[in-house]
Amino acid sequence: MTVKKAIIPAAGLGTRFLPATKSMPKEMLPIIDTPVIQYVVEEAIASGIEDIIIITGRGKRAIEDYFDDSPELEMHLAKKHNTELLKLVRDVSSLVDIHYIRQKEPNGLGDAVLRAEKHIGNEPFAVLLGDDIIVNDKPCTAQLIENFEKYGRSTLAVEEVPYEKLSSYGIIKGKPLNDSLYVLEDIVEKPSPEAAPSNMGAIGRYVFTPEIFDCIRDAGAGIGSEIQLTDGIRALNRTQMIYACRFKGKRFDTGDRLGYVKSIVDFALKNENLREDILEYIGEILAVEKDLAKK
Ligand code: G1P
Repeated sequence: MTVKKAIIPAAGLGTRFLPATKSMPKEMLPIIDTPVIQYVVEEAIASGIEDIIIITGRGKRAIEDYFDDSPELEMHLAKKHNTELLKLVRDVSSLVDIHYIRQKEPNGLGDAVLRAEKHIGNEPFAVLLGDDIIVNDKPCTAQLIENFEKYGRSTLAVEEVPYEKLSSYGIIKGKPLNDSLYVLEDIVEKPSPEAAPSNMGAIGRYVFTPEIFDCIRDAGAGIGSEIQLTDGIRALNRTQMIYACRFKGKRFDTGDRLGYVKSIVDFALKNENLREDILEYIGEILAVEKDLAKK
């Protein structure tokens, strides 16, 4: 059995990007000209996903509008014979079949995933958190799906997390099977660095067997009185083996201010129309900084 459905939770409030996110979903923050969520949707499609459920909340209408047709804009571009932009705009709305479910109030990531239970049914599915962009020839989600197809078990993507950031992640305890795969022994949501069972954190890409839904429900509210996906994973691990995969690829944590700026710089350097100018500009800044340091 393979994985054809994916959930993209996008109901979070985005407090780290206030005031911008007061009236704009954080998932719509652009990396130059493309909103973060488009990269996430593209990763899902490139991994073989055919059916995407985005969990939205209040103030997230811009996401639905973004992936919808925009007749006025298309008419305007057609009139101006701007075929290149017209294609760009049309391509976005024809990417894939997307369904939207609203989470009435922010009640945790586990609760957001539970909202899609009826739509998923009794099938394995992927979860892609809207904050991360992961760049690799074989997408991160495809790597997890490959592991699922091999073992038939839930699989989460993990990577090494710096000590001071351990308390921002679900941190795993795992038994290494080889260079890139662990059997999950435990996972703790946002531990203090001293209490963390390792330095390997879950980074927001998962493939689950459908039994996870009952486990999330049974686990109930966890830290912050919210329904945590991590607690559901813990509960699932009591009855099913779970794998943690050290994925291949470069991850940009766009949900973090520094990570967001870094991702813009990286994407600009990869863009052949911007690269030279950006390098020149960075050179100028460094020269000024060096001068200042001398004084
Ligand atoms: C969530 C999860 C956490 C995971 C993280 C990855 O936390 O609860 O286990 O490690 O995503 O980004 P959040 O970032 O929503 O606080």
